[in-house]
Amino acid sequence: MSTEHHGPQSHLSTQLFDWKRSDEYHNSFLIAPDEQLERAHQRTLDAGMPDIAVSEAQGKLLMLLCKSINAKRVLEVGTLAGYSTIWMAKALPDDGLIVTHELLPEHAEVATENVAHAGFSNKVKIVVGPAVDTLPNLPSSEPFDLAFIDADKENNLNYFKQAERLIRPGGVIIVDNVVRRGRTADPDVIDQSVEGVRALLKYIKADAKVEATTIATVGMKGYDGFLYALKTA
Ligand code: SAH
Ligand code: DHB
Ligand code: MG
Repeated sequence: MSTEHHGPQSHLSTQLFDWKRSDEYHNSFLIAPDEQLERAHQRTLDAGMPDIAVSEAQGKLLMLLCKSINAKRVLEVGTLAGYSTIWMAKALPDDGLIVTHELLPEHAEVATENVAHAGFSNKVKIVVGPAVDTLPNLPSSEPFDLAFIDADKENNLNYFKQAERLIRPGGVIIVDNVVRRGRTADPDVIDQSVEGVRALLKYIKADAKVEATTIATVGMKGYDGFLYALKTA
């Protein structure tokens, strides 16, 4: 009998080690090493910032999604050191723009440097401050094509509503970290971040303006998921 496991139960035997090896295997065919992105990641660690940027594979997916819809203007909430920002900047035309929002000036400073070193200063504007206060300042008269929400999870619903206001019909909103190792779906888990995701899901269920799905992701960043929403109206 084959020792290879198949079927929906087989994931139970896998660990972060396997997911990381799998990501690295696929990346070795699909994603060319990029000095600027590696540097941005290293600077994140050197600065003592948390190692919570999207994975390479997720970053490339964000870039491809931007390309797929010919995105010119991108809204981001949660900059950290600019890793996801740089990935998305690669997809934009020379006159494209990412407006990315970051609470902490020290994060924004590292991001500014990383973005500049990658050659994307002209395409990236970093807005510093609590995004609940800064997002309402953006005018809907200059709509975005895609939004990536990846900041404090307790404010997910607030950010999602702002993104809905700010993106064009046919635009896309992606929310990171909605699965949280399955904790979002575990009724015994009560925590601010998980409640932030649950509130968002409840809102979307009753919302006629978007169609959405969650795709769980496992990889070098663990077991989590992206919510993908299409603004239909
Ligand atoms: N998108 C980044 C990772 C973002 S990590 C990447 O993949 O590379 C989350 C970031 O959100 C952190 O830098 C954190 O400081 C920031 N953040 C937390 N609370 C925030 C708030 N209220 N407003 C804006 N940014 C916030
Ligand atoms: C955390 C935040 C993130 O945005 C992420 O992708 C992973 C982890 C966190 O706060 O732990
Ligand atoms: Mg995240």
